[in-house]
Formats: sequence, C-alpha cells, structure tokens
Amino acid sequence: MGGPLRFDGKVVLVTGAGQGLGRQYALQFAERGAAVVVNDLGGSFKGEGQSTRAADTVVEEIRAKGGKAVANYDSVEFGEKLVETAIKEFGRIDIVINNAGILRDKSFARISDLDWDLIHKVHLRGSFSVSRAAWPHMRKNNFGRIIMTTSVAGIFGNFGQANYSAAKMGLVGLSNTLSLEGKKYNITCNAIAPTAGSRLTETVMPPELVAALKPEYVAPLVLYLCHEGTQDTGGLFEVGAGWIAKLRWQRTIGAVCRTSTVPMTPESVRDQWDKITDFSEAIHPVSAAETTHHLIGVLGELDGGTGGGTGGGKQASSKPSQSGGGVDDGINIEAAMAAKIKPTQYVYTPKEAILYALSVGYTTKDADYLKFLYEGAEDFSVVPSFAILASQNSSVGLFSGGIPGINIDITKILHGEQYMELYKPFAPSGTLTSQARIADIVDKGVGALIVIDVETFDEHKEKVAFNQSAIMVVGAGGFKGAKSSEVLKPMMKPPARAPDASIAEKTSVDQAALYRLTGDRNPLHIDPSFAAMGGFKQPILHGMCSFGFATRHVLKTYANNDVSKIKAIKVRFSKPVLPGETIHTDMWKEGKRIYFQCKVAETGVVVLTGAYVDLYEEAGTGEITTKSSNSSMALKSEAIFNAIVEQFKTRKGVAKKINSVFGFEITQDGKTVAEWTADMKTGEGSIYQGGPKSGKADCTIVISDDNFVDLVSGKLNGQQAFMTGKMKLKGNIMLAQKLGELFKDQSKL
Ligand code: NAI
Repeated sequence: MGGPLRFDGKVVLVTGAGQGLGRQYALQFAERGAAVVVNDLGGSFKGEGQSTRAADTVVEEIRAKGGKAVANYDSVEFGEKLVETAIKEFGRIDIVINNAGILRDKSFARISDLDWDLIHKVHLRGSFSVSRAAWPHMRKNNFGRIIMTTSVAGIFGNFGQANYSAAKMGLVGLSNTLSLEGKKYNITCNAIAPTAGSRLTETVMPPELVAALKPEYVAPLVLYLCHEGTQDTGGLFEVGAGWIAKLRWQRTIGAVCRTSTVPMTPESVRDQWDKITDFSEAIHPVSAAETTHHLIGVLGELDGGTGGGTGGGKQASSKPSQSGGGVDDGINIEAAMAAKIKPTQYVYTPKEAILYALSVGYTTKDADYLKFLYEGAEDFSVVPSFAILASQNSSVGLFSGGIPGINIDITKILHGEQYMELYKPFAPSGTLTSQARIADIVDKGVGALIVIDVETFDEHKEKVAFNQSAIMVVGAGGFKGAKSSEVLKPMMKPPARAPDASIAEKTSVDQAALYRLTGDRNPLHIDPSFAAMGGFKQPILHGMCSFGFATRHVLKTYANNDVSKIKAIKVRFSKPVLPGETIHTDMWKEGKRIYFQCKVAETGVVVLTGAYVDLYEEAGTGEITTKSSNSSMALKSEAIFNAIVEQFKTRKGVAKKINSVFGFEITQDGKTVAEWTADMKTGEGSIYQGGPKSGKADCTIVISDDNFVDLVSGKLNGQQAFMTGKMKLKGNIMLAQKLGELFKDQSKL
C-alpha cells in the first residue's frame, strides 16, 4: 500500500495548536517533514485572555526534535494574519487545519448574546476567515487540503451546547461547499468530529477517560486526509480511540402528497406520513442536485412539460446564467446562438454498425435481424437510429467548453427530447460529416433547454440525416428568455384507443455496458457510485438506447425491417429504464405515422412519450408484411424448380436418399418474392410453390433469384455463397449439402 506518508516541502497551518488535538497535529506533521505554523491565542477554554506560551511551547518541542515550526499568536478571527505568517516564514501554504476552539456551555434559555457570538466567532467565523485567506494561494498552487473540526454535539445535538452545536454543524455545511468549489483546483476539504481527552473535555469526562482518549488516536486521520495522495473530499468522519467511521445522509423514498388534480393539504401529508418516514427502502443522497432532479421528475409527472428526461447526465443545481452576461459557468445566449461550431467526422465500417445494432437489441435469435448483424448478408442494412452516433459526435464540444457561450458541466444536463430525420439509408461503411448549430435556447424556469440541430452528410456531400436534440441544463433557467421554441419539433399524443400493436422485450443487464461502447461513455450508465451521485439506485440505460429499441419495434412491425421506409422519429425521454428491465412499446398506426409510447413492463412507468415514427410510404396493413408467392412469373428460378420436378420421375429413389423437406425463399431487392418447397419425405418427392404442406421445412434456403440460377448452374459455389451471405440457411444447415444430390446435373452445391 505504498511507503510512509511524508509532507516534505509542505507548509501546514494548525490553529489552536498550543495544546490538545492541535498540538498533536502540529507534532505529527513536523515529524513527517512539514513546516508548521503553530497558531494559538493562548486564552482560557472559555475564550478569555491570551498568551504566547501555548504556541511557543509547541514550537520549541518541534524544533528540539529537528522539525520546522513558527508560532503565531493571533485569533483565528483574523485569518489573513495567520496565513501571512506562513507566507512570510515559509513562502507558501498547503494545508489548513481549522482546530481552534472554546466552549461556553449553557442551557438554551441562559445563553447570552456574548456566549452565542463568541462561539460563532471562534469556530465558524474563524474557520471561514483562515480558509478564505489560504484559498487563493491554494488555487494558485493547484493544491490544498483543509480540515474543518466539527463535533458529535453538532451532528446529534447535546444538552447545554446549543451555541456550540449550531456553529459546529455550520462547519459541516462550509466543508461540503468548499469540497465542491475546490475540486477544480485540487483542494480537498473534509470535516472530522473527534473525541479526545483535552481541557475541553475534562469538564465533562471522568479523568480516566480523558487520559485514555489520546489525541494521538485522532491525528493520523487528519494527516491521511491531508496527504497529497488522498483525493477524498466532502467527507464527514467520527474519530476517537483509534476508531474512524464515515457518516452520510440517509433519505426515505418519501411520498408525493398531491396529484395533478388533488391539491396538497395538511391531511394529505398526514395520510402519507408512514411512507414519508419509512426508512426500510432508504437511499443515500449526496448532492443538492439529486433533490432538484427528483423535484423536476415530480413536477414533470404531475404538471407535465417542465423537462424531465434521462438520456444525459445527472443533475445539479447551478446558478442561473444571464443572457449576455460574462459568467464563467453557464450559458451566454447571444454567443451560443452565434457560435460557429466546427464540423466533425465520423468514420464507420460494418463493425460499428453491427455493434450499434447489437447494443439496441438486435439478435441472431431472430432470423429477420441477420441483415443488421452480418456484413456478408445480401441485404446488409444499417439501423436508421445509428444516425445518432455521427450526430452526438458533433455536439460533444457542448460539454467540453468547445462551443463559445456554453460552459456547462455534464452533471447539469439531461437529454430531454430527440428528433431524427432520415433521407437515405446508410451505406455499410463511410465517413459522415456532421454540422451542429445551436438552434434555440428556451427558458424553462427550472432550466435552460438548448435545442441543437445537427445535419449529417456522406462522402458525396449528400444529406443523410438531420438530428435535433433538446438538452435541459438544470438550474440555468430564469433568464427571462422565450418560454417555448418555434423550431423544436413538437411531440405527438397517441390516439385515444387501445394500441394496434405492441412488442415487449427484456433488455439485458449489460445493455448499457454494451451501448456505451458505441460512443456515449457517460459514467452515469456504468459506474454505480457516479449513478448514486445523480440520485439513481443503479446505473441507468442510455435514453438513446431505449430510442433504438423502440425504433426497432416500429421498423419490424410496420416496415418489414426495411430501413428505407423510415422518414422521421421523435421521442421525449420522461423516465429512465434500468438495464435488465423490459421495454414495452405500444404502437398506433394512422396513415404514414406510427405513434408509439414505451413503458417499463415491470413497473408500468412510462419512459418514452409523445413519440412517433413517420414512414415514407404507408404500410399496407399495419402488420408484418407477409411473404408473397404470387409474383414469381418473371422469376428465372421458377424454370429451375419446374425442371427439377422431372428428376423425381427419372431418378427414382433420389427423394428417399435425401429424406428431408427443403424450403426455398427467393428474393429480389432484399424482399422475398417467392416460396418453394421440395418435399422429399413423402412418396417419390415433390416440388411445389408455397410453404411446406407438412408444416415445417427441415432446412430453408434464402437466396436471390439471380444467385439461385448461378448456384444451380454451378457459377456460384455453395459454400462461398453461404460465407459471403449471398445464400442464407435456416433450420438444419448441414442438410444443405444433400441438395447437391438434387441439383447434381447442373450444380456444384
Ligand atoms: P483544547 O482546548 O485543548 O485546544 C483548543 C486550542 O484552541 C487551545 O489551545 C486554545 O488556546 C485555542 N484557541 C481558542 N480560541 C482561539 C482563537 N480564537 N484563536 C486561536 N486559538 C484559539 O481543545 P481540543 O479538545 O483539543 O479541541 C480542538 C478542537 O476539537 C476544537 O475545535 C473542539 O471544539 C473540537 N472538538 C474536540 C473534542 C474533544 O473530544 N476534545 C470533541 C469535539 C470537538
């Protein structure tokens, strides 16, 4: 686990280091190479008087052991002076241990203004003052470690310590916020609630306990947290007697005490009280963002239209951004709308297209899906929703500071809606160029909705797709902008009748792990601790993965898996899907428009709403197009089948030898245009048009009319045809070898 933790070259300021815990920190830091500023006012434990003796004694002790230390006698209320000593003596400040403290215990009714103010001045204001003075130096050095000293009296409350408890809990809040603000600069901040024998505790603890609870049993935690190798921040620890434990918040699942039509009342609160206070299924929230996220979800569910969404990141509250303002964190609308975003390229081969298809649930279990999974398939096709990969590539700069006027972090965004238009099917491989632009920024109150339009072109400069993403930046609303957008593609409500068709499919527990390999690597979808920060019990599925599932369901049901039929797709992401849950898609057909809605079958929660697919041509029946067997007159294969009929008459016993039922699906332009059956299980054998009368073929050959002619005539080798996808086999593929016997005269099957 590495060598000793050293602090050579580091400068540590310990407040209240004249005795007790502070003294122990100072000694241990010095022993491990740090230069220490030993601060102590030297007053009584009630905060009266002052003296240089306390600090001087510790400095002498350190120097006697060969360590580096200097004394400072100022009160922590004047933080600048303490930090000045560090800079003057040692040239820098790396670590601040806010430790100085006093007590003025009184029962609440007897606390005077002075008792209250003094406690707050030393503990809360003192820690603020010293940390603020050190902060710019730490930022400049891109290194800082800060400790706040809180107390179990604050965390749990303690009789007679109302003033002290309040100040100590204030320090936890201060520590939490500094940990967030310091992250960018490698400044960590943690809070400890120590228990140790000292003059502060000798009034309340028996002498044996005071002696036994040594400060040495606390100090090592402080050193560990302040080492440059320790990145932990925002933690709250109890420590004493050598025992250390971390604390965190716990929250019940809670209950919503109103509905969209029934108002919230004290009675509705009473009626939900058991649920509000039931910790049996508690979660551990870690950010204010989670609360915002949750509330937006509640608003979206009850009042509609406030955002919601799941496709992007977790949420965080952020300060509202001002239109045109020079904020260093947020959105500058004019600059964003005027931004010229650099076009991006997306190069893909069948491998990327197949990986995408697998990631949205295409499976070899369904024979119809082979064309999306096998580059050798005669009708190899790229799934239409694949268009998102080139598109998202172009707007990635949005979240990395690459777009002028937009400086938001990924933790503040949600993928709210997605619209996609397709102009021609994707080639099996290619280089796509995408051009993004900010089409609109809408003030949704709870956030800013950024509408991003992306046009994607192929190598021939032909437009292949248009994508529109609506991204909610939580907390950035309220800039008095337009409340709605003219360019945002509207959502559509499905007809008010039972769905015309439905497909339910279970996602895999690894669905998100697979989907992320297509490009969206947001840890929200794979990392449990990251997901927890966003308020999710576990990593959630990408919204665009659910989008892919739903598109596939419509493509299969209403377009016979023909990718050229899909014109446009629109969805709103209303709730997340968890990997492993079942996506249930309900579909309604109205002319060329297929309305759809997805829910999670296990919970009934609606996840995709306002959604539709527009087709280029109206699907005939609203059912999977059935194979036709009536257009074979023009097919060359027909002549071959008719000729083979003769074989059964001339070569007696051939049928018995083969003893199998073969089906033939003859295709043209990727569509099945004729079906034939060669039944060699009954009688002398027969060949006829249509599916097998016996019910099922042992082996079915799927092949185009032309390739079939080449195959039978020997121009095309059977094995090669199979390997290159020109011929597909279903059922017992080994039986195909027996066909050689049937076509013996002409073929090399
Ligand atoms: P201590 O009384 O032994 O040490 C505190 C030191 O702070 C004293 O040397 C005092 O002169 C100095 N000090 C007081 N006001 C100051 C000011 N305005 N400016 C500079 N120095 C000042 O106390 P102990 O027990 O070592 O406590 C250290 C910290 O740990 C305190 O913040 C205390 O509230 C906290 N704490 C201690 C617990 C314990 O069990 N000892 C329990 C919970 C919290």
